Amino acid sequence: TGYVTLDSGYKNTGATKSAITFLDGEEGILRYRGYPIEQLAEKSNFLEVAYLLIYGELPTTEQLNAFAGTITKHTLVHEDIRKIFDGFPSAIHPMAILSSLTCVLTGFYPESLDPNQSTEELDLTIVRLMAKMSTIAAWTYKNSMGHPLNYPRNDLDYCANFLYMMFSFPTEKYEINPVVVSALNKLLILHADHEQNCSTSTVRLVGSANASLYGSVSAGINALWGPLHGGANQEVIEMLEAIEKDGGDTSKFIAKAKDKNDPFRLMGFGHRVYKNFDPRAKIIKVAADEVLQALGMQDSPLLKIAQELEQAALTNQYFIDRKLYPNVDFYSGIIYKALGIPTEMFTVMFALGRLPGWIAQWKEMRENKEPIGRPRQIYVGATERDYVAIGERA
Ligand code: CMC
Repeated sequence: TGYVTLDSGYKNTGATKSAITFLDGEEGILRYRGYPIEQLAEKSNFLEVAYLLIYGELPTTEQLNAFAGTITKHTLVHEDIRKIFDGFPSAIHPMAILSSLTCVLTGFYPESLDPNQSTEELDLTIVRLMAKMSTIAAWTYKNSMGHPLNYPRNDLDYCANFLYMMFSFPTEKYEINPVVVSALNKLLILHADHEQNCSTSTVRLVGSANASLYGSVSAGINALWGPLHGGANQEVIEMLEAIEKDGGDTSKFIAKAKDKNDPFRLMGFGHRVYKNFDPRAKIIKVAADEVLQALGMQDSPLLKIAQELEQAALTNQYFIDRKLYPNVDFYSGIIYKALGIPTEMFTVMFALGRLPGWIAQWKEMRENKEPIGRPRQIYVGATERDYVAIGERA
């Protein structure tokens, strides 16, 4: 009891102390464990960044080899998981499969339910999740296409193996394209953590009840699926395609986004925290140009529409007044599309990237022995009244 302050959407309420990610929305700064996102995106790779987020320091060669090697060793999933795929409806969204099967992992590794796992046991729980989620993610796509599921290949690194599982066929030789591998590494790094966003807060809140890592991450996946959060990358491409289909007039869609009687929003624009350019969007924009050049797709009409739309919004008073800039999702979909990743899989890709962040935040919450999360409310319902028998109600 006592005085409760209301902060709908937690706009000004810090829920935790954290040493993982620093974000300054006014200045457009993002750092993981102190390292600027620009340096990590250019020089590092996804598993190294995952190690940094989860364990707090950049790994030595030995530590990285051990971490990556153990992940590779655990990429196979139990054959019964393969059978579960047969039971899903064919039209199911890949995010629904991803969240379900992430939670199902608790059934195969019941020791992960123990809130008092030793450090070694927890490390194994973490590694299994990092390893198996990439296999499950690739299989959600293969399942949606009705293609045979590909088993992981231990001779490939994390990103190459994921692409192999996504795109290869048992009937054909699969060529790994280094441009695609490098673009995927960059995208996953840029999505790897973003402090207390909706899905991460979900993971921490669920985990604060001593729920397992797999159960907490499964909840985070569902939060990420929402169109105002990770689902926006799919919506951006659908919006760009709709503009293209409509004849390519971006000004019409800018007008729609400004119209308060129209629910349409410019997807990929605006951010709760960034009131300046999202630093990830800057990196992704350059990467989109590079990837499309390297793949000979520089004439992509969607890229052209995105560039026009961005320019039109950045010079429009409505967007200037509200400090609405492109966010990470504005260009990420264009790269995913160029890499051959279908629209329905975009949010799954986001989840794959965000996984080390969720793990690091869950682990930090546990290590800090944070209390169970339990927000208060301001009650605005009926005052006390007496029960009326059903036959006597008006
Ligand atoms: N298009 C048109 N108007 C917008 C947009 C937009 N994309 N975003 C915000 N506004 C307007 C909004 O209508 C409001 O106007 P007014 O003050 O006149 O009522 C004002 O800007 C402030 O918006 P808000 O909804 O109060 O801001 P928020 O911090 O609650 O929402 C947001 C942030 C990201 C949900 C929102 O900007 C949005 O819906 N953007 C489109 C969806 C999107 O791209 N989401 C991805 C976010 S980044 C990836 C991630 O972290 O998940």
